[in-house]
Amino acid sequence: MLHRPRRLRKNPVVREMMAETKLSKDMFVYPYFIVPGKQVVHAIDAMPGVNHFSTDTLIRDVEKGLELGVNKIMLFGVGDEKSEDARSAYHDHSLVPAAVRELKKQFGEDLYVVTDVCVCSYTTHGHCGILKDDYVQNDATVEVIAKMAVAHAQAGADMLAPSDMMDGRIAAIRSSLDNQGLINTAIMSHATKFASAYYGPFREAADCAPSKGDRKAYQMDFRNPQEALREALLDETEGADVLMVKPALAYLDVMQTLKQHSNLPIACYNVSGEYAMVKAAAEKGWIDEQKIVMETMYAFARAGASIITTYHIRDIAEKNWM
Ligand code: PBG
Ligand code: ZN
Repeated sequence: MLHRPRRLRKNPVVREMMAETKLSKDMFVYPYFIVPGKQVVHAIDAMPGVNHFSTDTLIRDVEKGLELGVNKIMLFGVGDEKSEDARSAYHDHSLVPAAVRELKKQFGEDLYVVTDVCVCSYTTHGHCGILKDDYVQNDATVEVIAKMAVAHAQAGADMLAPSDMMDGRIAAIRSSLDNQGLINTAIMSHATKFASAYYGPFREAADCAPSKGDRKAYQMDFRNPQEALREALLDETEGADVLMVKPALAYLDVMQTLKQHSNLPIACYNVSGEYAMVKAAAEKGWIDEQKIVMETMYAFARAGASIITTYHIRDIAEKNWM
């Protein structure tokens, strides 16, 4: 027999040498939910191990994470001041900018801070934009999103992750940042964000479920890989630094396509529903959590993602799974 592929699988040493996909802690981003108040640590039901934190408790938790090498975080603000125009998303004392200032004061360059930029936690109706006649208004929303982005960047956010899916928002954010001289703030676009049932647990966590209707008139149709590429390339031309695919596990094909067609780094967001499924099955003893989680992380990397946003990274780091 001329070809015996098993030769290169003979023992752990040769298997390590032959591994085509490598993972490192540098690739991971850990999401956090911040709420107003003090001393808050409130468990989120459908996301075991994930909490709502107020800024003070967040800082303590981030400190623990840093000791484990979790030095890149993504912040979601869970607003309590909701309005039709989402003004609490960008005024100068709003939740996320205040938290970013505190984090930067404590940790400086040791902590890389990404912020989610979207208004659904700040609108009374829970949609990711300004609503008129039950339709999310694109251009009016882009104006608000750009103001929010500037507020986050001025507070010291290293990277902005707009998740609203309005057309033209990357260009608007980029030019607003440039106008303010904020030339070093990176944009990780949720370039292809699909209207997905996998966001279920998050909507409870971020208190952002639409009170009426769904998000299909702005998030993407999961049947459309061609359109996904178009969306991503638009964001690249508009000035995005990183292209993100969301959710992750059911969209590995999209990651691979973007990797092949763009020279930008590709990120993925392993979302709340994907996390909840693993946690639930593990709790029942039906799967081996460590093995399932690591196989999943390798799948993202294999598909082309070099940045992985996941709620699992705390377990991976704490329990030395990698
Ligand atoms: C809203 C937003 C969602 C997520 C991130 N930002 C939910 C949605 O679009 O309804 C989902 C993240 C997750 O499920 O972990 N802009
Ligand atoms: Zn939103």
